[in-house]
Amino acid sequence: MAVLGRAPDGATPLDPDEAEGLKFKHVTTRAELNALEQANIASGLLWLGRLRRRDILQDAFVRRLHLRLFGEVWRWAGQLRRTEKNIGVDPRDIAVQLRMLLDDARYWSAHHTYHPLEAAARFHHRMVQVHLFPNGNGRHARIAADVYLRDCFGHKPIDWAAGADLLRDNARRDQYIAALRRADAGEVGPLLSFVGL
Ligand SMILES: Nc1ncnc2c1ncn2[C@@H]1O[C@H](COP(=O)(O)OP(=O)(O)OP(=O)(O)O)[C@@H](O)[C@H]1O
Ligand SMILES: [Mg+2]
Repeated sequence: MAVLGRAPDGATPLDPDEAEGLKFKHVTTRAELNALEQANIASGLLWLGRLRRRDILQDAFVRRLHLRLFGEVWRWAGQLRRTEKNIGVDPRDIAVQLRMLLDDARYWSAHHTYHPLEAAARFHHRMVQVHLFPNGNGRHARIAADVYLRDCFGHKPIDWAAGADLLRDNARRDQYIAALRRADAGEVGPLLSFVGL
């Protein structure tokens, strides 16, 4: 794959094998890649909206969602990460960590442990912290959190971008990444205000 230009702050770089998984060999700029991914995500969201049965608390569905959002662009879409990243758990721990997260999320909705937005913020943070996939974790986990909100709480989605472009460096993204880092350190407050709680 050609040099794609600098990734925004908080993005995970791909290793060479993962970069090889790009289905479009002509892509040379990050803007082109973003556009291809955006088109794929748009069709994935249509699929998601049409589904009559979906369960975001099943690990197979979490993987299938990633496949539908990124599978037209990346050969490894929907497959759990096998390489180490600067973010995320050891690849061997991903499947277990995902199961624990989904169990916790089920408990939170069954027992009204948190406000729906707090449950979704914690769900989102844990998912990106585990870092299930080689790439697309942020976008996948924002959509997954919105599905969790809708299906488990009947709550409207989070306004993640709030008028900004969350995929580029700007104040909204800085606030988002900073809030995730504070949540890594155990302080969830900044992420709660980010999601509008
Ligand atoms: N310190 C951190 N702790 C937890 N999650 C983080 C941290 N830094 C970044 N992230 C998450 O990882 C995402 C980047 O991972 P990745 O590149 O796989 O996803 P993406 O969807 O391609 O990213 P982006 O949201 O930048 O488009 C960020 O969007 C954010 O959700
Ligand atoms: Mg990325």
